[in-house]
Amino acid sequence: MKNFIHSICCIGAGYVGGPTMAVIADRCPGVQVTVVDLNAERIAAWNDPDLSKLPVYEPGLDAVVGRARGRNLHFSTAVEEAIAAADLVFISVNTPTKTKGLGAGQASDLKWVEASARKVAKAARGHTIVVEKSTLPVRTAAVIQEILGAAAAGDAAESQPAKTFAVLSNPEFLAEGTAIGDLEDPDRVLIGGDDPAAIAALASIYGQWVPAARILITNLWSSELSKLTANAFLAQRISSINSIAAFCEATGADVREVAKAIGADSRIGPKFLQAGPGFGGSCFQKDILNLVYLCRHYGLEEVAAYWEQVVTLNTWQQHRIARLVITKLFGTVSSKRIGLLGFAFKADTNDTRESPAIRICRDLLEEGAILQILDPKVSEGQMARDLGQEPGGVSPPGSGDGQWQRVPDVQQAAAGADALLLLTEWEQFATIDWPAVVAVMRQPAWLFDARAKADASAARAAGLNVWTVGEG
Ligand code: NAD
Ligand code: UGA
Repeated sequence: MKNFIHSICCIGAGYVGGPTMAVIADRCPGVQVTVVDLNAERIAAWNDPDLSKLPVYEPGLDAVVGRARGRNLHFSTAVEEAIAAADLVFISVNTPTKTKGLGAGQASDLKWVEASARKVAKAARGHTIVVEKSTLPVRTAAVIQEILGAAAAGDAAESQPAKTFAVLSNPEFLAEGTAIGDLEDPDRVLIGGDDPAAIAALASIYGQWVPAARILITNLWSSELSKLTANAFLAQRISSINSIAAFCEATGADVREVAKAIGADSRIGPKFLQAGPGFGGSCFQKDILNLVYLCRHYGLEEVAAYWEQVVTLNTWQQHRIARLVITKLFGTVSSKRIGLLGFAFKADTNDTRESPAIRICRDLLEEGAILQILDPKVSEGQMARDLGQEPGGVSPPGSGDGQWQRVPDVQQAAAGADALLLLTEWEQFATIDWPAVVAVMRQPAWLFDARAKADASAARAAGLNVWTVGEG
């Protein structure tokens, strides 16, 4: 059994695998770290000499990759080779919601995890610690153990050199946009397992920069479930504050004052109380739906319904904002120009997965709006994939006659528009030159600020009507 790790392989060079392995390599110069992926284009981008072309935009990531790449951090498509050389393999592949078959719309699709486990089973040599880094349904480790166990038994039967495995759960809690800080100074590192040597080996990696008191050890199932639960609790706070935002708008209260007042209670705390257009991102909705599915599987209908409501409220908030824009613009947005400020699901990322902007834009396109979309990091191609329609193109049948185009700056988002709709809290939106913007808009014009990011008084002073989320 190994207590010291010389070589790590990470399967999956995505938003988690890339940054996490870059920080491990940076902090553990004595360990060789190879990140592998089937997606050759993604691997090529990780290897691009121009660090501004990395496939994941994350503040500070370029510097970390720049320090470690080529020294002890490698990106490769040679999956089996990297597994064979590794003492420890992280599985950090995507686990999206299933779109068809059993559990469609709720259960996580584990086909990439299973394929990874089978690859490890085939290619591993000697003793290998296999670590679940992906977010997984409770008891997935048992599936991985079974697949690996069958491979070990098969090799033994054929008198091949013995292969042994230990399986651990080590979920990732980083948030996009702050990934490097979250990885370098985590609130906690969670390791679930029942093999003390494997746990000690993984803990020794994190122990090179994380204080021992922040490395929590649990059993496998607690670790897997803690990840789903953490995301469910965080998302629940957002749906809670968004529900109160709607109530504030109806009553004259101000959600930011309410959030400050309740957040001052140390039992509640101030974080994750920012009202907005609803949570996006690849994980909150997926992980809650997975929790809901698992609760139903275990016959816990009331528990399932409780968590499902967090997602229902979130979807409602997104449609509510689209409806509100239409209502304020005299009940129709057909052929009206609307400037969209932000498309990413949050600031400081190029990620648009489950971005509230997608549902809101689709609602407005359905009503025939002409959208002028500005986002500093999201490409036109990504917007086209998300909106299911090419820029300036004709909408698919039944989806109204709206059109959209990506624009490079606020002035062009505002040109000829009846409204600006701020959906992502990019810092640049706090300092908009409102008199210049108003001059190119059609009057009467609106600012709908779903993030409370813009300088509302400056926008009002320049002549705009202003709606801010949660402001009554
Ligand atoms: P991602 O889609 O960005 O990356 C996953 C990568 O795995 C892809 O590049 C894909 O090509 C690769 N892959 C899939 N199957 C493979 C295989 N068999 N062999 C080699 N490569 C393979 O996903 P992500 O955002 O990095 O998320 C990964 C996991 O981490 C998910 O379970 C997610 O829930 C969890 N997670 C994500 C975040 C986040 O902020 N994105 C945070 C915490 C946890
Ligand atoms: C979230 C969690 O914060 C991470 O701990 C977790 O590891 C990750 O999911 C995951 O499992 O994928 P992330 O989705 O990157 O991270 O970003 P968050 O900062 O949590 O934001 C999620 C969404 O909630 C964004 O759309 C954001 O704008 C929204 N949000 C967040 C609010 O509307 N209000 C808030 O107060 C906070």
